[in-house]
Parts: sequence; C-alpha cells; structure tokens
Amino acid sequence: MMWRPEPGVFAPDDLDGLIWFYDMHGYATVRGLIEEDQLALIEAECVHAQNRVIAGELDERHGSTVFLDEAAKAERFANYVEYVNEVSPAVASAVTDPTLAAIMVALLGPDCWLRAHEQFGVVYQDARPGRESGYTRIGWHSDWQASPSLDIWPSTAFTIHIDGTSPANGFLRVVPGSHLWATPAPYRNVNGAVVPDGARAAGGRTTRTPPFAMPLSFEKVRGEVAVYAEPGDIILHDAYLWHSAARATNDTQRRRHVRGGYFGGARQPAGVAEFIKNAAR
Ligand SMILES: [Fe+2]
Repeated sequence: MMWRPEPGVFAPDDLDGLIWFYDMHGYATVRGLIEEDQLALIEAECVHAQNRVIAGELDERHGSTVFLDEAAKAERFANYVEYVNEVSPAVASAVTDPTLAAIMVALLGPDCWLRAHEQFGVVYQDARPGRESGYTRIGWHSDWQASPSLDIWPSTAFTIHIDGTSPANGFLRVVPGSHLWATPAPYRNVNGAVVPDGARAAGGRTTRTPPFAMPLSFEKVRGEVAVYAEPGDIILHDAYLWHSAARATNDTQRRRHVRGGYFGGARQPAGVAEFIKNAAR
C-alpha cells in the first residue's frame, strides 16, 4: 500500500511548507533530518545515561525528580535524564543541527537560543506504564504555563522520537490553532501549584481569549487531534499550544524521546529554577 504524505509532516528542505503549517496549527513534524545511524547512537547514549542515573553514577542534576508524579519511584528507576545533551554527543549534535537551528530562527527570530544548560537543559524521557514508572502520561497544558513569570517566551519545543508512537505506547494530543489563544496561567490546576508573583495572566501568540477553558486533566477537547511520530521524527510545537500525552495501552511498551526547546525571548539567568509541574500521571 502506498502511504500518502501525512498532514503536518515535512522534509527538512521544505522550510516554507513547515512554517506555513506551524503558524496555522502550532505544531509540525520534520521527517528525514535524523538518519537511522544517528538515531541508534542517540538511543544508545541516552539509555547508557539513564542506566548511570539509576546506578547513581551521574551528577544529581541529571536525575532530579522534578517531573515525576511519584518521586519515590526514582530510587529504583529513572524516567528522565536532564541535561542529557551534556553527556550524549549524539544528542548535542542533533539538537544543534544547522537545519533545525534554521527552522527555529524562522519561527523565533535570529536571536533565538537553545536551552542547553539552563533549568533542565535537553531531557531524555522514557514514558512507560510499568509499575516502576513515575511517568506514563501528561494532562492538558501549554509549556508557557510552567514558567509564566519569565521573559524567555516565545518558544518552540522539539521532541526527537527514539520510538515511533501509537495508541500502544502512547502519543501526543494537540488542539490545532490553540497557540493563537491567550491561555490563562494555571491559577487552578490539579496539582494545586502556586503561581509565582509577577506571572503574566495569560500567554499566547495573540490576545484572543480561548473559546473554552483548558480542561484540568485528560478530557476530550473539541478539535483535538493525535500527532503520531515515526522513529527519528522531530515534532515541533509552540509553547502556547494546548497539548497532552495519552498513556500507553500496552503495559510492556515504552515511548522514548529527547525533548528541549529554543526560545525567542530573554536568555534565562543561571540558577533560575522556576517550574510549575504540569499534570503528569
Ligand atoms: Fe509540554
């Protein structure tokens, strides 16, 4: 069977197509930038780093539990490796790839910067439903909501997919076009997190009020779509986009990717650790 090109998926040399789709919908996928052998290296180095976090061999900053819903499980397992770009040359190379950087410049302007050594750097994520796991899924949020008092915005997040995604191992849910809405900071959320003083009331690519409130957790949202990835795909999404991640339906499967962001606003001062945890489960 011949597969037609999927909506929202672009070759690395189709910058115009990608920008067109991203500006309308708030996300797009780059397919074909990460070669198979490079992806194998990324996987090997990330798994090695993950094992070293579990063994207590890496500095603590690589294995904090800030994202985990059940931090106690971090003593037996590590769903995350933070600043993985500092311990994996293959990751460091992929996240600074000139083609990826050119896309980010087109989206965010010539002064945009990669969050490499601030906050949590580039993060390897291993989502799995097993009993050892502290990360299986994440509820509706925009990434901006995690740091509404910082001046680092706008931003575009990237996820480099080691595993392809499907309902079996979990997948990204997005609300196309929601990056255009001025979404309120999470004054009300399932974690009861306190929003810091100085936070902006709302964040979006325009000042338009959302047509309905962002749900608190995993509810179906009008207009949402699934965004599936093939191994090696890079999904880009806007920091103002409403998104969530569905839990795997197969208990033996994993969903691993490397994620990070480029920012178009002020560079983050060293030591700033503000981060409001979203609704991970
Ligand atoms: Fe997110």
